[in-house]
Amino acid sequence: MRSSASPSPTHCLLSLQSWSSLLTNVFLLLLLAMTRMQSRVEAELDFGHHSNIELRKYMRYVNLRYPNITKLHSIGESVEGHPLLVLTISSPLDRHITLRPHIKYIGNIHGNEVVGRELLLHLIEYLLSNYGRNKTITRIIETTVIHILPTINPDGYERAKVGDCIGATGGYNRRNVDLNRNFPDISGYQEKLQPETRAIIKWMQSTTFVLSASFHGGAVVVNYPFDQRQGDLTRIAYSKSPDDDVFVFLALNYSRSHYNMHHSINCYPRERFKDGITNGAAWYPVRGGMQDYNYYHGVMEITVELSCCKFPPARDLPDYWEKNKKALINFLLIVHMGVKGLIMDERRRPIANARLNIADRYVSFRSSKYGEYWRLLLPGTYILKVKANGFEDYMSQPFRVRSHKVHRMDIMMTREESASRSLNGSFRATIQGEVTGHDVAGGSSTVPSTEKLPPQMQVTLKMAEHTSISHMMTANYLILTWAIFLSLGSHL
Ligand SMILES: *[C@@H]1O[C@H](CO)[C@@H](O)[C@H](O)[C@H]1NC(C)=O
Ligand SMILES: *[C@@H]1O[C@H](CO)[C@@H](O)[C@H](O)[C@H]1NC(C)=O
Ligand SMILES: *[C@@H]1O[C@H](CO)[C@@H](O)[C@H](O)[C@H]1NC(C)=O
Ligand SMILES: [Zn+2]
Repeated sequence: MRSSASPSPTHCLLSLQSWSSLLTNVFLLLLLAMTRMQSRVEAELDFGHHSNIELRKYMRYVNLRYPNITKLHSIGESVEGHPLLVLTISSPLDRHITLRPHIKYIGNIHGNEVVGRELLLHLIEYLLSNYGRNKTITRIIETTVIHILPTINPDGYERAKVGDCIGATGGYNRRNVDLNRNFPDISGYQEKLQPETRAIIKWMQSTTFVLSASFHGGAVVVNYPFDQRQGDLTRIAYSKSPDDDVFVFLALNYSRSHYNMHHSINCYPRERFKDGITNGAAWYPVRGGMQDYNYYHGVMEITVELSCCKFPPARDLPDYWEKNKKALINFLLIVHMGVKGLIMDERRRPIANARLNIADRYVSFRSSKYGEYWRLLLPGTYILKVKANGFEDYMSQPFRVRSHKVHRMDIMMTREESASRSLNGSFRATIQGEVTGHDVAGGSSTVPSTEKLPPQMQVTLKMAEHTSISHMMTANYLILTWAIFLSLGSHL
């Protein structure tokens, strides 16, 4: 289209004809740019570096395209006011599903380490486009709640430069603070909390996460807690956590599912990571790191270093995606191991914020606002301890965790006032069962639905529904009688 306004000849150095052809050209260029921008968000996600605006557009677009299984929200703002957008993926998403575990992925905490940021966008694309098409992906979306935050440092990203492999420009936030040193640490040491850090802390308070990974660059390795050492904070040495077995298992699953991370990739001459994993402090100690903060707040988090080059050219991105795709998917599947259940009062109402720990593992975790708890454990026999305000301390019987299964154990706590009335702890009830991750998808109320549980468990649950002193005593009496019969029988 041509402009109808004819420019005044005194102000114009160009002839009318060249003016209109210039305008036409500009118009065509604009049109081209617009269609390109549209195709960027409407077609499949391309392998390019996506600016903060493009990233935001893409996340809005997928949210509109998959409204039933995604939710988009901002957990806060960066110093410069960029929203910190999280896409949540699960089906269904319109109501709370009891005991469905929450997992989070966080990218770009160092603004110049960008591979994770792009991989997380591609993971979103992969998960959503395969829902209902691929069995594994459908199962993941129907058994877990996945939260993806592609960038926690959008301000740093804007200052970082493509091709800058080892530089530090754009690594920190706008106030030049390293976000991965900004979390409150166990010794109480705390730098001034940045808005990005505060957003994560608040997010973790509102959602009970079970498992988490954050993504960095500048090495190729999975790093696991502790990052910090007690005592000498600078000494380089293994800082073993009480859940070291679980962390090694998680880290190895990532590195072995990765195309070649487990072959020990050395970005620098003296770097060598056996099997592609390392304890944090054994690499270099860090205080105020996000990973230890997560662990002390009930979330098992690992830190994945994805690339030797922090900001590689866009043409390398497809290769990084292919190398990490399986590992990113497997990490979502691995959450179904260990123990989980509900913490309830005597009327089966959920107890939120109860403090739990596995015996001999001092790092504790808490029940969710729905009274749910989860803990990843390797096969073995464990004891669970629970403390809740107003209730007697609880210690479970030893329970067994089998491989690739989740042990379900619901706990009814005893109120402190009724302590004197309870007879040898008979007031307490533990409801146990074992379910695979796959079976656990169903159930929507706060109380486990009896239809979906194995028969053995249904009986126990029915009993617990009418929990009262007399019922429990009758049950105990029957069990006692039965036990006496059995022992007599074996002696006769
Ligand atoms: C979302 O769910 C509703 C109700 O189940 C269904 O009718 C609709 O087709 C779904 N939309 C999409 C985009 O899947
Ligand atoms: C489904 O997705 C999984 C996980 O990414 C993949 O390993 C598998 O090959 C896919 N199956 C099909 C039939 O494409
Ligand atoms: C990682 O864990 C997943 C889920 O449990 C499992 O299917 C896969 O085989 C594991 N891979 C490796 C290499 O350990
Ligand atoms: Zn980093």
